[in-house]
Amino acid sequence: MKTFINIGIAIFASATLVSCFNDKKPNYQYFPNMYEPVGYETYGEYDIFPNQQEAMHPPANTVPRGYELYDYENSTEGLQLAKAELQNPYPVTEENLATGAQLYTLYCAVCHGDKGDGQGILAKREKFLGIPSYADPGRTITPGGIYHVQMYGLNAMGSYAGQVSEKERWQIAMHVMDLKASLNGEPGVLETAEVATQDALVSGENNTGANAASESDNK
Ligand code: HEC
Repeated sequence: MKTFINIGIAIFASATLVSCFNDKKPNYQYFPNMYEPVGYETYGEYDIFPNQQEAMHPPANTVPRGYELYDYENSTEGLQLAKAELQNPYPVTEENLATGAQLYTLYCAVCHGDKGDGQGILAKREKFLGIPSYADPGRTITPGGIYHVQMYGLNAMGSYAGQVSEKERWQIAMHVMDLKASLNGEPGVLETAEVATQDALVSGENNTGANAASESDNK
């Protein structure tokens, strides 16, 4: 008898539940905020926005958070100026160089080659033409110029401003200068930086550059 009652209750309950279901209306929502967020949805239409649209232009004379000012124009003149004036603000250290080398392998080596000789895999497969060697005497490769082409790209080369941060661009530039030096058979940037620091220390001790020169002559 008990089982009959139980079965009866079960049938009654499911019949009641099913009868409540109406496929023309939305169902009950538990935790409705999971479906309908409290915040405004991207591209949603809301009365508080002009034209009911959320995607609006930023107010005039404002800059987005994290925006970096870059004064050089995306033009041949801009590149020349950056090459001449712009200096790497980060010191040459093993750490900066190592990070630069890693990022270079990721982003640049496919075209420019591990050695910077312009013989990356895409160059060998002729997917991209006209990739220069950093030692090309017809090009003035300077840290500022390397930074600039990462910001804007140059002809077939795209911009890397969206992929690497300001610091990373300079670390890459450091590594590229190192590659250029080794292609030219010159001492690497770390060595050059150490010599420069020593010279600065020596001339600092003697107060004049002339003394520093004679000091190193005596060695
Ligand atoms: C898709 C292939 C490709 C990739 C990837 C690439 N480059 Fe280039 N790059 C080129 C080409 C092609 C040129 C020659 C552009 C020209 O002069 O028309 C060039 C030129 C350059 C130059 C010489 C600019 C000058 O002043 O003459 C530098 C420096 C340079 N690239 C650095 C980089 C760095 C750093 C990266 C990685 C962040 C990179 N490139 C990634 C194709 C590439």
